[in-house]
Parts: sequence; C-alpha cells; structure tokens
Amino acid sequence: MEKSDLIPKTKGSVLKWQAHIYDFECTLVGLSSSFRQVTLNYVQLNAGMKVLDIGCGTGVLTRLAAEKIGDTGEIIGIDPSPQMISLAQKKSLQLQSTAKFKLEVIENLPFPDRSFDLVLSSLMFHHLPTDLKLKGLQEIYRVLRPDGRFLGADIGKPKYSLWWLVLWPYLIIPNIATNIKGEIPNYLNQAGFEKTETLGYWFSLINFWSAKKPAFAPKN
Ligand SMILES: C[S@@+](CC[C@H](N)C(=O)[O-])C[C@H]1O[C@@H](n2cnc3c(N)ncnc32)[C@H](O)[C@@H]1O
Repeated sequence: MEKSDLIPKTKGSVLKWQAHIYDFECTLVGLSSSFRQVTLNYVQLNAGMKVLDIGCGTGVLTRLAAEKIGDTGEIIGIDPSPQMISLAQKKSLQLQSTAKFKLEVIENLPFPDRSFDLVLSSLMFHHLPTDLKLKGLQEIYRVLRPDGRFLGADIGKPKYSLWWLVLWPYLIIPNIATNIKGEIPNYLNQAGFEKTETLGYWFSLINFWSAKKPAFAPKN
C-alpha cells in the first residue's frame, strides 16, 4: 500500500506545510493558550470522559482537554493533515500527554455510533464547503451519546456590525461566507441537535457554539 493511500481525501482545505508555523501564527493573531483555555471554560470536562477533537491541528486544545479528563478519560484528535498529526503526536510524546491523534476526516468518522461524551472543534468549520459542514455535523451527532455535547469555536457572525467593514470581501469565499453569515447554528439544528446556543465570543468574531444531542435520541 502506498503511503498516500493512508491520507484521507477531503474537499476541506487541509493545512500541510503550514503545520510547523501554525502555533506561532496563532499567537501572532491573538489565538494563543488563553484562547484555548477560554474555549474549554465553555464546557464541563470531567475525569473519565470520552472526547473527540475534530480538525485538531497541532493538538494544543486536545492536550489541554486531556489534562482535564485525566488518565481515566480518553481523547482523540483527528485531522487529514499528516504534517499536523505527526507534529501533534511528537508534542504529546514530549509533554507526556495522554491525547491520541489520528489521520481522519469529519465527513467519515471511523467511530461507532454513540461513542463520545463530548465533541470539540476549534477553527475548523471555515475550512469546509457547506455540504461537508452539514455531513460533518451529522457525523458528530451520530458518534455522540444521547445527551452528549458539541462545543465549537470558529469564525462566525460577528457580535458587532462594525466587523463587516473588514469582513465583506470574505463573502465571496463560500467556506467562510456561511460561517460569517451565522449559518453554523442552523446547520446544528438541521443535524438534529437541540439547545443550540452561541455562548460567547473571542474578539467579538470567533463564536463559541454549544449544542446537545437529545437525551432520548432514537438509535441511528
Ligand atoms: C485552522 S486549523 C485549526 C487547528 C486547531 N483545531 C486549532 O484550534 O488551532 C483547521 C484544521 O482543520 C483541518 N481540516 C481540513 N479539512 C478537514 C476535514 N475534512 N476534517 C477534519 N479536519 C479538517 C485542517 O487540516 C487544519 O489542521
């Protein structure tokens, strides 16, 4: 089998060569560790939880969540970028994190139905075309246990309309346009989630969304 056969194919935009400068870039634009900490403040992480982080990149959020769920918990970060996954694995080894990483895509999650308590995704949805956003959220719904929660952080509808002075050119980029028009909460509802809420903002542009799989969701 060729090495390239193991790399999942996707219509999402995959960060490859950027992997080695990604954390530095995040810090430059104000998305350093305090952003990750604030993200996790929006959700309850208990010891023993089973968590999935989709589009994990270098795994900063994944490792932070791993610390909170402890050794009895399990967390796996997935991303289609071999460069991101290998960097995430290397850093986890160095930092002795229990977080695991795997090359996979949101649109075809290789996990059984109802296998996670919580699904996280940070700064990933604006990398996907609309059909994958919808398919991906259906997949998240499938792998969550009833009453399980989704927490997403990404560019969304800005809190203040002044942002449109900067954002309007992005309306011609479909992957970003649906995010900034505020469609993600609608897609969550379409996928079957309930209690969909925008819990807060980072720099009034990154939205934090929470949604819940109904406690009595019928089997998929
Ligand atoms: C901007 S990075 C976010 C990384 C990290 N979650 C963070 O918060 O910094 C977006 C990531 O989504 C990944 N991605 C692109 N298409 C994807 C797909 N179909 N499924 C899962 N992840 C995808 C990219 O490779 C990239 O690493």
